[in-house]
Amino acid sequence: MTLSPSIQYDFSLLHYNTFGVNARAYAYVEATSPEIFSSIRDDNTLSALPRLILGGGSNIVLTQDFAGLVMHMRMKGIDIVAENDDFTFVRAAAGESWHEFVMWTLDRNLGGLENLSLIPGSVGAAPIQNIGAYGVEAKDYIHALRAYDFQTGEIITFHNADCRFGYRDSIFKHALQSRVIVLEVTFALPKKWQVNGHYADVTRKLEERGVRAPSARDVSEAVISIRTDKLPDPSKIGNAGSFFKNPMVDAKQHDALQRLFPDLVSYRQPASEYKLAAGWLIDQCGWKGQVRGAVGVYEKQALVLVNLGGATGADIVHLANTIQADVFDRFGVQLEPEPVYV
Ligand code: EPU
Repeated sequence: MTLSPSIQYDFSLLHYNTFGVNARAYAYVEATSPEIFSSIRDDNTLSALPRLILGGGSNIVLTQDFAGLVMHMRMKGIDIVAENDDFTFVRAAAGESWHEFVMWTLDRNLGGLENLSLIPGSVGAAPIQNIGAYGVEAKDYIHALRAYDFQTGEIITFHNADCRFGYRDSIFKHALQSRVIVLEVTFALPKKWQVNGHYADVTRKLEERGVRAPSARDVSEAVISIRTDKLPDPSKIGNAGSFFKNPMVDAKQHDALQRLFPDLVSYRQPASEYKLAAGWLIDQCGWKGQVRGAVGVYEKQALVLVNLGGATGADIVHLANTIQADVFDRFGVQLEPEPVYV
């Protein structure tokens, strides 16, 4: 077997997933440039291995050792690539940290992404699950992206509509999963900036701080402060942010639930659907702050599962399954995990 010098074998992924699970990869490579993918594709041994594309590792549960090749996205670079009367177009490489990228834009007075401050993970992962927070989703600002197609060996451009974005969802989670690798993303940031949405928590935080006419930076600081209060810092307590998506139900089920549970937290969606607050459902089942061995439910936000030290992926999945079953028994609603089980 010809070994590429940059491939490492039997590699611990402990520091490469925010849950802090100590699973190992059969093979691991740091992808610092797109060319690495063509050399892997050209290598008969490497190209036959199962592939895992790793960004910030903030949206995966490693349920066992990975018997394949982990490709860790490390490509760097952020540039303003074009502008017109309405937008500044900023391109960022997949391996950039998402939060540092958001800070880069704000340092240059380019507003738009401030509501998405402090979301863990990388730029390349942002379109995969269409990250979102406080009334904004990455899709609102993604103009286009370039990705390497492992099947054909070509680099393809996807425009926003090609990505089929949905709530924490895109084509990259389905038809194109592990076939294409996002290399870089171009964002269209509006020249005429306005505060995004009026999300109650953010409005309250700005009021508390006495900010009347907020700048993008003020909004970012408010968001950082809310997230720091509510969500555990992965460098201190292993976690993957919201563990479940907020489930969608039709009007009939929503109305029936609301009759039974008048405090139900729900948000009306287009096409008479309702999004339910999964955190509320889990909290109502008494899970907030519960500990089961090395895993638990975060004490300040029932939607977040935490590794209290030494948890395995199987421990996390077991707890998640138990919570799903409880919520289903009580509310007849099926929760869906947000992170990917590997
Ligand atoms: N709630 C409870 N108990 C809890 C948690 C929440 O009763 O333990 C209630 C809250 O009182 C509130 C409602 O549930 O009325 C919603 O809670 P919150 O505003 O905290 O937002 P979320 O629905 O829990 C979503 C995203 C977060 C994002 C926030 C802010 C999902 C799955 N989660 O959380 O995204 O930061 O809104 O926009 O959509 C992530 O995806 O990893 C993530 C952190």
